[in-house]
Amino acid sequence: MCDLRCEIFANRKSQITNHKSQITNHKSQITMKILVTGGTGYIGSHTVVELQQAGYEIVIIDNLSNSNIEVLDGITKITGKKPYFYQADCLDKAALQNIFSEHGDIRGIIHFAASKAVGESVQEPLLYYRNNIVSLLNLLDLMPQYGIEALVFSSSCTVYGQPEILPVTESSPIQPALSPYGNTKQICEEIIRDTVCATDKLKTIILRYFNPIGAHKSVLIGELPNGVPQNLIPYLTQTAAGIRKELSVFGNDYDTPDGSCIRDYISVVDLAKAHVVAVERMLAGKQKSEIEYFNIGTGRGLSVLELINAFEKATNVKVPYKIVGRREGDIEKVWADPSLANTELGWTAQETIEDTLRSTWKWQLSLRNCN
Ligand code: NAD
Ligand code: WQD
Repeated sequence: MCDLRCEIFANRKSQITNHKSQITNHKSQITMKILVTGGTGYIGSHTVVELQQAGYEIVIIDNLSNSNIEVLDGITKITGKKPYFYQADCLDKAALQNIFSEHGDIRGIIHFAASKAVGESVQEPLLYYRNNIVSLLNLLDLMPQYGIEALVFSSSCTVYGQPEILPVTESSPIQPALSPYGNTKQICEEIIRDTVCATDKLKTIILRYFNPIGAHKSVLIGELPNGVPQNLIPYLTQTAAGIRKELSVFGNDYDTPDGSCIRDYISVVDLAKAHVVAVERMLAGKQKSEIEYFNIGTGRGLSVLELINAFEKATNVKVPYKIVGRREGDIEKVWADPSLANTELGWTAQETIEDTLRSTWKWQLSLRNCN
């Protein structure tokens, strides 16, 4: 009798094991497809890598206005998977429609595509308003027509201006924008908010990034600034590499411990990972409201001089610099309170600033080797 029972048990066990493997196989067949606009850009490319490694299938739309096609090779070398790629402009609604028709199984969109140079936006406001706002309008128009309900939007800590209280939380007041670029981010947030209120077919997560820096550890993708870099880190690494004579530190007479401005520098890889958890949260229906905002920063403020010092310690490379006058429009000090993202998204920045600075230095050296 006991032998018979053992045999029956053994059979049941193998049936359960087979059933479980069928479920696993079935799950792997339901690969979620995500559209990433601006996906060959700095943050977009790092996010595509993390999404692919999390099992998502990716469609990239990018007009290559601020990136190049070689980034696709980098992504593919890292993940072993080549994303679908369309060189198209988000301002071209017909082109977007063709892509949406070809990929009827897109489950969500991460919208990175935008122009992002603050200084240029002052010189070319209409280019910025058109590019950053109309591209969003086109997506919001088309999403319901193709049954796409989930949108992650790239916003910026710029919307907070110079916060009165630090660290800055998601409920810190939005201040009048100091540049057309910053204004496009505020306007886009308002457009999304009003669209969410007008429909029950849209849910969005707005991620407000602080200062993304660094590169993927593979050194196959990183930041590719066009021309003379406006941002601190690419200018700093080009100076360290001897491409630039010396770094100008824009002011040391601010109300900060060493007089230079303070920012929240976050690893671009950590930032990319925040997008994966945001997408997962939306597709799993875990959002607590149709529109959610999260500050994506480390919660740690570093001054320009502290960053230079950290770079030199992390890489053993000196950075020649000089103190010059303030740069117009610069915020004196801003850093995030990321506790909402930490608790709600279950996301926390992991990389140390030293590792991030080492990754950006290795990336700079790789660029010099191929230039
Ligand atoms: P990026 O310029 O490297 O990437 C943007 C990509 O979008 C580029 O590849 C560009 O070719 C593409 N693009 C621009 N306009 C397009 C259009 N109309 N159609 C199709 N493609 C278009 O910039 P990034 O640093 O990766 O920034 C990505 C997003 O994050 C932007 O929305 C930016 O405003 C936002 N953001 C960036 C920072 C930062 O410091 N880098 C900080 C906060 C927010
Ligand atoms: C950082 C600090 C400079 C260059 C900008 C945009 C913001 C977001 C991120 C898009 C500042 C100082 C810089 C240099 C320097 N982009 N600096 N010498 O201004 O915080 O933010 O990029 O969303 O919207 O405003 O970044 O890297 O330009 O400057 O001293 O050659 O480094 O004064 O204090 P910023 P940044």
